[in-house]
Amino acid sequence: MSTAVDTIKERLTIVDVVSSYVQLEKAGRQFKARCPFHSEKTPSFYVSPDRNSFHCFGCQASGDIFSFVEKIEGVQFADALKLLADRAHVDLSAFRKGAQGEDKSLYEVLELATDFFEAKLHTSPEALQYLMSRGLTKETIQEFRIGYAKEAWHELETYLGNKGVRMEYAEKAGLIVKKNEGNGFYDRFRGRVMFPITNATGAVVGFSGRILPSVADGKEVAKYVNSPETDLYKKSKVLFGYDKAKRAIAEQNACIVVEGQMDLCMSHQAGTKHVVAVSGTALTFEHLRLIQRFTNTVLFCLDSDKAGIQALKRSAELAFAMQMEVKVIPLKDNKDPADLILSSATIWQSVTERPISLIEFLLEDMGKDGKTEEYSKRITKDLVPLIKTMTNTIEQALAVKKVSDKLGISDTAVWSAVKSARGVTDENSVAMQKNVSSQTAQKDRIMHIRELLLGAARSIASLDEMIHRELARIDEECGRAKGDSPPEEILSRFASVFEVSYGSDNPEKQEKSVKELLREYEKESIKEAVEHIMNTIKKTGGGEDDLKKVQALSIKLRGVSI
Ligand code: CTP
Ligand code: MN
Repeated sequence: MSTAVDTIKERLTIVDVVSSYVQLEKAGRQFKARCPFHSEKTPSFYVSPDRNSFHCFGCQASGDIFSFVEKIEGVQFADALKLLADRAHVDLSAFRKGAQGEDKSLYEVLELATDFFEAKLHTSPEALQYLMSRGLTKETIQEFRIGYAKEAWHELETYLGNKGVRMEYAEKAGLIVKKNEGNGFYDRFRGRVMFPITNATGAVVGFSGRILPSVADGKEVAKYVNSPETDLYKKSKVLFGYDKAKRAIAEQNACIVVEGQMDLCMSHQAGTKHVVAVSGTALTFEHLRLIQRFTNTVLFCLDSDKAGIQALKRSAELAFAMQMEVKVIPLKDNKDPADLILSSATIWQSVTERPISLIEFLLEDMGKDGKTEEYSKRITKDLVPLIKTMTNTIEQALAVKKVSDKLGISDTAVWSAVKSARGVTDENSVAMQKNVSSQTAQKDRIMHIRELLLGAARSIASLDEMIHRELARIDEECGRAKGDSPPEEILSRFASVFEVSYGSDNPEKQEKSVKELLREYEKESIKEAVEHIMNTIKKTGGGEDDLKKVQALSIKLRGVSI
């Protein structure tokens, strides 16, 4: 008899599974993408339908559909199995030996609660009325499965009990809370509009509950109560609305980050769907990693009070460290997206299409009072450290230019401030470390591609001459010193790595792969060269020549990228 694993693998290919998390691009018989498991700008993550497996040449992650899901969802094998079984419509109980009446999974308990809250909303006119007054339509309420938890202590507890859920389990799902004294539990969410929080595949993993104004009525209660951290809900890894935004993020090649649930739901309703919400936590490395699966551009649309600006700077710094592009969508009069959309969806749509640079936004925020000493001190303190963390050298140069224009001083003065600046926050040093390691990763990647090419030259006699000629040309054009050729035994190892990665039976396919690798090598080499020259310009000011070189290389890069 075949096992559950076999049955699932018959129904789901590696491409089915990976493509629901990552934007795949065809590359010969394989597919490629930016690796979801480490930061990178150019794809080194390959999916092979033939072998039904994935492999990343950057971080060496590899495996099948199960290990992919384990890794990307951060779950153990058993949960990956359940998740994929659901998706393949495979009934796991059919494969289980004996032992009936097992616990419901945490997913099932949260699903029951979601249904329960949804049903309650429709028998609570006041709650429904409140959501309508905020501008949400019935369709949006349904799409996001928004519900209501009545102002009572044991509603959900009783319901789940009747459904055969053990109370310890409902507690583990974050839905009920153990009493401080005596035995028993009570409902965590009371008198609140309930927003289910879903993971990347759309399964409910927790809730965010907003107090109904009439229930709050002057009492000292938190506006929002969220699920605690559970086995399924890790707030540093979940972005509200992500599962519904994935496709739009890829299509728009950008992701808007807003603050709250209301902002997100309203934005969706207004047709702007490439949006996620951080919902009350600081944006983390893992959050950005989720976004980076589909785009390298993040557009922040956060509150612009003091705490909001601080959060923006910190988030931007992290994004820079991950080599992402950062822009800001400014909203007037301290409105948040939900307020703005309620008054005009059209204005929201048009502002989202006109993001501005981070530095421009921050300079604007600091006011117009130009050239005083106090003002320039504030800029040095607040902006220069942030500019230091920028990894896109061209963006960085533009930022320096903006600041020097604003202060009416020379670029060189700002560059030297940037050079001697220290990190803004403690996290900054972490961010810088990640940045350094991703720069080494880029170097490693170029070396790796070079090795594969040398291996190909070794393995395929008819391509040997062409490969060496092209490598020499690219190295020369990118100002790379000529290295010694590796010794014989290393070359033959490269050759087998190439054969294992690209096959040895189909010459046509091999030649295509070689050409692709050469293009990759050229692209990465040009990028590295540009970065190198920009660094020199930063240090010494550089000469006319340097800028010309950068221009020439950039034009070449465009040629190669097409
Ligand atoms: N938040 C939270 N806990 C709080 C307050 C806010 O988790 N005590 C989170 C919620 O996810 C909320 C987001 O932060 O959606 C934004 O909060 P805030 O700016 O206070 O939201 P408002 O716009 O005032 O809230 P609403 O639109 O619901 O009136
Ligand atoms: Mn709001």
